[in-house]
Amino acid sequence: MGHHVRIEPWSQSDLDLLRQMNAPELMDHLGGPETEEQLLVRHERYVAMSAGAGTTGAGTMFRIVELPGGVPVGTIGYWERDWQGQQVYESGWGVLPGFQGRGMASAAIEAVIRKAAQERKHRYLHAYPSVGNPPSNAVCRKAGFTLMGECDFEYPPGTPLRCNDWRVELGPVHGRDL
Ligand SMILES: CC(C)(COP(=O)(O)OP(=O)(O)OC[C@H]1O[C@@H](n2cnc3c(N)ncnc32)[C@H](O)[C@@H]1OP(=O)(O)O)[C@@H](O)C(=O)NCCC(=O)NCCS
Repeated sequence: MGHHVRIEPWSQSDLDLLRQMNAPELMDHLGGPETEEQLLVRHERYVAMSAGAGTTGAGTMFRIVELPGGVPVGTIGYWERDWQGQQVYESGWGVLPGFQGRGMASAAIEAVIRKAAQERKHRYLHAYPSVGNPPSNAVCRKAGFTLMGECDFEYPPGTPLRCNDWRVELGPVHGRDL
């Protein structure tokens, strides 16, 4: 476990992966599938995030690829958000149905934790899986996140979603948020 995937910054050629990730069974906990127009907007946002990666510390989206073949099997990323008066990183992920149950998501989040820690910008990385999403909550638990409690989101806006607030400490930061 932990050595059979690589995370690679999102690129223009990943639109087809995003379309595959838009399958109803994957979007169940995320408000259902998006329209092609919404997907294109999301894709361009992911490309832009990766273009700025390493310069602003604002986060990056990645494709998860299986090793050694390099087949794209999912998506993961981290980005900034305000949380209870503090700036934190948030992560979210998905793995294509044919590749689930093989530790892909668990290995990918370990890689994301390392990347986010290298930024030395925020002390904590959070994830907010729906309370009714056992695999995603298991991913958090396995990766060493601490369950902080439950919280209410609207996702998509207007649709209430009860979530767990998981948090992992990334380590020291440059100058602030300590
Ligand atoms: C959540 C998701 C990414 C997990 O991907 P994955 O690659 O299959 O995850 P892993 O193989 O690393 O498995 C993680 C753990 O979940 C556990 N798990 C899987 N299905 C489970 C279930 N129904 N109930 C409880 N635990 C479950 C696995 O047993 C594993 O733990 P283990 O290694 O101790 O056995 C995948 O199910 C998915 O894409 N779901 C749809 C999208 C989504 O919900 N994203 C989350 C938004 S935050």
